[in-house]
Amino acid sequence: MPTPTPVVLDCDPGHDDAIAILLAAGSPEIDLRAITTVAANQTLDKVTLNARRICSAAGIPVPIARGCAQPLVRPLYVAEDIHGASGMDGPSFGSISVDVVEDHAIDVMHANMPCTLVATGALTNVAMYLQRYGTTAVREIVLMGGSTERGNTTPYAEFNIYVDPEAAAIVFASGVPVTMIGLNVTHRALVTPAVVARLNALGPLGRTCGELMTFFAATYREVFGFDAPPLHDPVAVARVIDPSLVTCVEAFVGIETTGTFTRGATVVDLQGRLGRTPNARVAVDLDVDGFFDLVIDAVARLT
Ligand code: RIB
Ligand code: CA
Repeated sequence: MPTPTPVVLDCDPGHDDAIAILLAAGSPEIDLRAITTVAANQTLDKVTLNARRICSAAGIPVPIARGCAQPLVRPLYVAEDIHGASGMDGPSFGSISVDVVEDHAIDVMHANMPCTLVATGALTNVAMYLQRYGTTAVREIVLMGGSTERGNTTPYAEFNIYVDPEAAAIVFASGVPVTMIGLNVTHRALVTPAVVARLNALGPLGRTCGELMTFFAATYREVFGFDAPPLHDPVAVARVIDPSLVTCVEAFVGIETTGTFTRGATVVDLQGRLGRTPNARVAVDLDVDGFFDLVIDAVARLT
């Protein structure tokens, strides 16, 4: 077994973020050093409580640190239509045994360097970390966000980038190795009833995951007309665990911050038309069966 990869997971739980936390904590290939929270799917208080809830349910004793409550320059835009008023509607969670640490998320990131930053929410914390501590200690940033095709929040913007496009622009221009896991790939990771059945068969934690996915399926059907919800955020974690599962290409990615209709769009120059130096590895394919095997195995290890 190669040395586990040190990771700080920056997230906005969030149904799919919750599964990303379980995948990271339940995989021996990852040394999950800390979880940091950022306002996006819901307010900072709500996403932080949700991180505490899922870590308590799974017995994950990893430090949880609060980050930014607002995007860098824009008002917060939440996804209540998708994740509900709590940000993680569906299951009822038991007592909370995991607390938050006093330090700010970016200081916890700094304390755990060198490491890989996996970001599954708005990029506010990551951008703030880079501005405060520089780029030399970060091994890689693997983020769920953007798309090589259309968006989900607006026609051309994916939610995590849409919430804080200025932060995303800082991250993609930073020079740190960035891997972008976009909707073009995560929309293939559909949590079908067969996947839910595999989760439910794992016992109480698996059933909690099943309940999360049942709520997520209902909102994705209502809002987007999906037959099954896409498990976005764990794909970023899976890329760290086994890069062979997620095929990537080098490309220049421009972040639109001023467009009238295109705020938050990720302009992925797959053919090099703009003559700009590639600044990211962009996911273009996913081994879906291998991905869900990772997820099921990780939840089973935590049960
Ligand atoms: O667009 C999908 C992304 O937005 C996921 O990270 C989901 O949790 C939401 O944050
Ligand atoms: Ca998320």
